[in-house]
Amino acid sequence: MEKKEQLYEGKAKKVYATDDKDLVIVSYKDDATAFDGLKKGTIAGKGVVNNLMTNRMMQLLEKAGVPTHFVKELSERETLVKKVHIVPLEVIIRNVSAGSFAKRYGVEEGIPFDEPTIEFSYKNDDLHDPLINDYHAIALHLATKEEIALIKQYAFKVNDVLKAYFLTLGVKLIDFKLEFGKTADGTIVLADEISPDTCRFWDAKTDEKLDKDRFRRDLGGVEDAYREIFKRVTEGK
Ligand code: TMP
Repeated sequence: MEKKEQLYEGKAKKVYATDDKDLVIVSYKDDATAFDGLKKGTIAGKGVVNNLMTNRMMQLLEKAGVPTHFVKELSERETLVKKVHIVPLEVIIRNVSAGSFAKRYGVEEGIPFDEPTIEFSYKNDDLHDPLINDYHAIALHLATKEEIALIKQYAFKVNDVLKAYFLTLGVKLIDFKLEFGKTADGTIVLADEISPDTCRFWDAKTDEKLDKDRFRRDLGGVEDAYREIFKRVTEGK
């Protein structure tokens, strides 16, 4: 597969064209941002961890019946994926109160929910990714009613699979963000990444944070946290 011109550069990844119009290469960077890019930094080795971890999660989910954009791991930082139009919604599932949920509703972090919750944010940096509901998303033509129903079904399935998987590694999946895309033939697939950048992972025994909150909140031990969660994923314990 020949890597051609760069199509796009995001905050954490670059996307390149290939000689197949339906496939692109994503390349993961060590750059880290938070708060709409206001806070900037580098997390050494993050690109490798996020690429390899995402690919494992995508393959696990594909097996469980969730279609994904994953095609082939090319190297430590690069993966071949299906070219999609990203549905401009951040799909957030939560199992335990944390982050913006705790802040918005004035509750402590760490309260487990009886049932997982789902929410959408409109992916739009200029507007700071505002919270949006299904009706608004349909009104704005961000997705159809049918697509949103499918996205919800997939997102809860992802939660079931990943929550159980991470528990076997001694990790609580607190919450996470997913993005979906539409392939050339209109199929909705899971896209983007599933990594410590996009999930909250707490150690099941100590509640130690093993994710990007260490960077967002200046808690220190950022690289170690990425290394630790990656070690558990690769060693299966
Ligand atoms: P939040 O509590 O800040 O809304 O974050 C919920 C989840 O979404 C958390 O696991 C981190 C992830 N997330 C992203 O992947 N990208 C973002 O831009 C934000 C704000 C959160």
